[in-house]
Amino acid sequence: MEKYALVTGAAGGIGKAFCELLQNQGYSLFITGRNAEKLVKWKTQLESLNDVNVHAIDADLSLPQGREKIMEYAEQKNLNVSVLVNNAGFGLTGEFVDRPLQKWKMLNEVNVNAVTELTWYFGKKMKEKKDGIIINISSLAAFQAIPWFAAYAASKAYVLSFTEALAEELEPYNIVVTAVCPGPVKTDFVVSAEAAHIEAPDMLWADPEFIAKESWKSVKNKDRVCVPGAMNKATLAAQKIIPRTWVSKLAGSFYKPKK
Ligand SMILES: NC(=O)c1ccc[n+]([C@@H]2O[C@H](COP(=O)([O-])OP(=O)(O)OC[C@H]3O[C@@H](n4cnc5c(N)ncnc54)[C@H](OP(=O)(O)O)[C@@H]3O)[C@@H](O)[C@H]2O)c1
Repeated sequence: MEKYALVTGAAGGIGKAFCELLQNQGYSLFITGRNAEKLVKWKTQLESLNDVNVHAIDADLSLPQGREKIMEYAEQKNLNVSVLVNNAGFGLTGEFVDRPLQKWKMLNEVNVNAVTELTWYFGKKMKEKKDGIIINISSLAAFQAIPWFAAYAASKAYVLSFTEALAEELEPYNIVVTAVCPGPVKTDFVVSAEAAHIEAPDMLWADPEFIAKESWKSVKNKDRVCVPGAMNKATLAAQKIIPRTWVSKLAGSFYKPKK
């Protein structure tokens, strides 16, 4: 049976890199995104790159209807989703209490609730088939509290914890579940995070293709957590011996609004 890889946020930076990688691995694609025009353009490009089927639907993951639309489409078309990449997500910086609550709620809908619901739906199908791969895009931000990036870091901590737990639950059913925790990646993320002032040294910015490649290597190794890049791995190791409050203060200094 034809195997599909479902990639959310497929027409953006890391999502695009995953589509190319998975297509090259022989998967047909089921791609979703919020921006319909961008998505259709990307679908056409993908179809011209490789002779595999590409299904695309626009769905706003901040809405329960958006999540349902994806599940219903897969059901109607009987798509055998054997790889799920929960990639869609966005960041939001700033002083928590000064931003409208609606924005924070939306962040949780996309970064937490959509990941939970799509994993539940497609994970159940994978369990029946005793075959599947779930890749959840978390972040290096998941490993510590980050002032002025508080809700985003917490949402990614949820994704990390959720993924590690599910990896254990689903292992007996031949399902690999991996959380990917990138540091800074060259995508539109910073712009959409409304945070042009996010600061990180140039050498820390990775290409999206590198993230997809490292993620796939981790999946093949059945790793539950993937931290792409030697510098990021070293940073994580170092912060284990530093008090949590200090780590949090330091991480926050990259996001603190300039007065
Ligand atoms: N870039 C980084 O530095 C970095 C670091 C660590 C983790 N990450 C994580 O990596 C993932 C991918 O981000 P990226 O760096 O590739 O950024 P990006 O280029 O901004 O892509 C984000 C994708 O998420 C989709 N998305 C956002 N809100 C959505 C919504 N309400 N409904 C449906 N789709 C929505 C966007 O779709 P549309 O384009 O259709 O709006 C876009 O395709 C995110 O989960 C992010 O948190 C990024």
